[in-house]
Amino acid sequence: EPKAILFDLDGVIVDTAKHHFIAWRALAAELGFEFTEADNERLKGVSRMDSLNILLEIGGINISEEKKKALAAKKNEQYVKAIQQMDRSEILPGVERFLTELKEKGVPFALGSASKNAPLILKQIDLYDTFDAIVDGNVISKAKPDPEVFLKGAELLKIDPKDCVVFEDAQAGIEAGKHAGMYVVGVGDADILTGADDYIQDLSDMHFSRLVK
Ligand code: G6P
Ligand code: MG
Repeated sequence: EPKAILFDLDGVIVDTAKHHFIAWRALAAELGFEFTEADNERLKGVSRMDSLNILLEIGGINISEEKKKALAAKKNEQYVKAIQQMDRSEILPGVERFLTELKEKGVPFALGSASKNAPLILKQIDLYDTFDAIVDGNVISKAKPDPEVFLKGAELLKIDPKDCVVFEDAQAGIEAGKHAGMYVVGVGDADILTGADDYIQDLSDMHFSRLVK
């Protein structure tokens, strides 16, 4: 039976993909090209700078590192404005019930996210104090699929990685969880995601008993 749970944030706890998309699309428009929702799929679980590099590659744009930093900052400014409007209504289905179940069972859980905005988002949706530990883009040095983010989470919770379960909606995140030696539940379409141990559409399909093998 699992001793700890690690949650990705974007796409698992809250749907921020649309806010990222609107901000990236605006930046692309400013640079003179179109950025589609399908393009946005490629940015799930990917760090801000890596996301910008993918976007610039789509637009066929070559610029200096300095210019890139300015563009990333500009995108983030717009994104932060959007998430400052977020509230609890944007928490994804099943999340609050499942977290309550974990609390009742005394199973600790941590956040494992690539986002530097994770603390702000958790505060907006009033879940900041609910998590036993938070590992986010401000404290990790290696992006998913590197297991660092989840190994750090397990370490903070003082639980052996093999006793941890990861919830992830991004392919790179599923791989990170597997590299960490954890049981991974893919959140989303099993036709798109591969390599997870189990798949759910969202957390309304999840109960602790389903993780007990
Ligand atoms: C998550 C999202 C990505 C985002 C990344 C960095 O992994 O899925 O789409 O690019 O976090 O987010 P940030 O808030 O630091 O720009
Ligand atoms: Mg995600």
